[in-house]
Amino acid sequence: MEATIVLDNVKHYSVLLKEIISVISPQHGGTFIDCTLGQGGHTKEILKYQNTKVIGLDRDIKCEVIGKEIEEKFPNRFVFKNLKFSKLNNLKLKNENIKGIIFDLGYSFTQIKDPKKGLSFNSKGELNMMMGLNDFSAKEVINNLEAKEIEKILKYFADEKDAKTIAKNIIKERHLKKIDTQELVKIIENSKRKKNYRVHSSTKTFQALRIFINKEISELINGLINSVKILKKDGVLAVITFHSLEDKIVKYFFKNLSENKSISRYQPKVNQKEILFKMPLKKPIVPSNRELKENPSSRSAKLRYLVKNEDSYEIDSDIFDKFSHLIEIENLGLKLWKNS
Ligand SMILES: C[S@@+](CC[C@H](N)C(=O)[O-])C[C@H]1O[C@@H](n2cnc3c(N)ncnc32)[C@H](O)[C@@H]1O
Repeated sequence: MEATIVLDNVKHYSVLLKEIISVISPQHGGTFIDCTLGQGGHTKEILKYQNTKVIGLDRDIKCEVIGKEIEEKFPNRFVFKNLKFSKLNNLKLKNENIKGIIFDLGYSFTQIKDPKKGLSFNSKGELNMMMGLNDFSAKEVINNLEAKEIEKILKYFADEKDAKTIAKNIIKERHLKKIDTQELVKIIENSKRKKNYRVHSSTKTFQALRIFINKEISELINGLINSVKILKKDGVLAVITFHSLEDKIVKYFFKNLSENKSISRYQPKVNQKEILFKMPLKKPIVPSNRELKENPSSRSAKLRYLVKNEDSYEIDSDIFDKFSHLIEIENLGLKLWKNS
């Protein structure tokens, strides 16, 4: 699994901007949903085309400021919602003809640079890692879960080889002192058997905790399921992922909806699942050499997309079963819930 927390950026870049625009074709007009507004880079590019509208979502309330700026620049063509994309089905879309839904997963440069969010292992202060609309923070995870539970999170959400030792040392240290971000970094450094000079020792642990705290697995699965229901015929669902776990989920879901693999050719046609989507490219679109040079943080980005064949609301996918082991781990957080 690749490392995702990289700080070699000096400003915010919208990853795969040209590519996502060419996939969703806003030049023909229509309404688009940007599920991850962030700094609004993708949205603003869509709105440059006449006859387009965008509904921009972000779980981070701080994005409301960007939302307001965009609304002023494009009156009646943009609306911001402080909503998690798993709740996409709560949008009142009336008879809106949704032409494209985009996801640019993960966190923004602005968020990782925000010391209060504590997403980076360079942050000083309390453990947080909440992107917005969360039920609990990293502090509660580190101070309340059992060693076995923390180990599972680190192992399954980031493939951390030293998960067991790190978890054991967290439990040992939390009885002695308050664990803040820098204390956690020290615990991880002291727990690692091998030093990797290319990747920071804390990268994987921070990735795993961020995925857990923000419930990124069920967010993604529910977001994808709701998107494919909302899209109309010829509508495009485009997703940019940044680590292998996300990409695995997107790849499986897209294949699952665009192929009829398990069906035997001898089976009567009536029993065959209707193929509601096409996946024009089997391989993901990745950043060009030019983008990599300008923004090295884009190196792990992968863009995949689906096109809907029919107007249909009923979707048949076994994605929750396929990733149930990850959802079970995510559910370890239920005992930490503040809100629901
Ligand atoms: C990589 S940034 C998006 C950058 C944006 N495309 C741009 O061009 O400026 C990801 C954004 O998605 C938001 N986000 C992550 N998970 C989310 C979720 N489950 N629901 C809504 N927003 C989410 C984060 O708060 C962050 O602002």
